[in-house]
Amino acid sequence: MKTSITKSKRRFQFHPERAQPQIGQRAAEIQAFGTIAKLPNALSEQVCQGSVERLNQILADTMTLRDLYKKHHWQVSGNTFYQLHLLFDKHYDEQVELVDQIAERIQMLGGLSYAMAADVAENTNIARPPKGREEVPVQLSRLLTAHEIILQGARASARKAAEMGDDGTNDLLVSDVIRTNEMQVWFLAEHLVTSPPVTTE
Ligand SMILES: [Fe+2]
Repeated sequence: MKTSITKSKRRFQFHPERAQPQIGQRAAEIQAFGTIAKLPNALSEQVCQGSVERLNQILADTMTLRDLYKKHHWQVSGNTFYQLHLLFDKHYDEQVELVDQIAERIQMLGGLSYAMAADVAENTNIARPPKGREEVPVQLSRLLTAHEIILQGARASARKAAEMGDDGTNDLLVSDVIRTNEMQVWFLAEHLVTSPPVTTE
């Protein structure tokens, strides 16, 4: 609806409805989860579909590991508190970066990535930890188990991607997911080696 006022013989028009936010809008989805919106990337829909499914599993597990790191960053205790508090957050940040890379790889293949916590919880292969606080060796063991689940899936998916001609997915999995997880495993696992602090036994 147009509104007009007259001021000093000049006429101004307004469209006040255009400034009003139209909230609460709903419509049908434009792409269903599990489908491919084919992009001109020289990969067949079937190849994209396969890579998207495998990447979504790795994504769900990586998002779970990311959150496990933050839980442990907050709840860590004991005489290694300071170094583990910082280390867990460093690994968390690196997992955050991986989550974005994996999710965007899924999107660039024409698929849809998991995004919300409830969908991640339903689909991850990593066991749900208790809400309560656990001792450091248990925290480390949980993280190492999660890393191993991701590494196993990522290696199998990398080989499959190479076999299917999806070199970009293979590269992401090998260069980023596998290498980052292997590095983090090393940094965690060395904390579980019994090492006398002063005098050797
Ligand atoms: Fe923090």
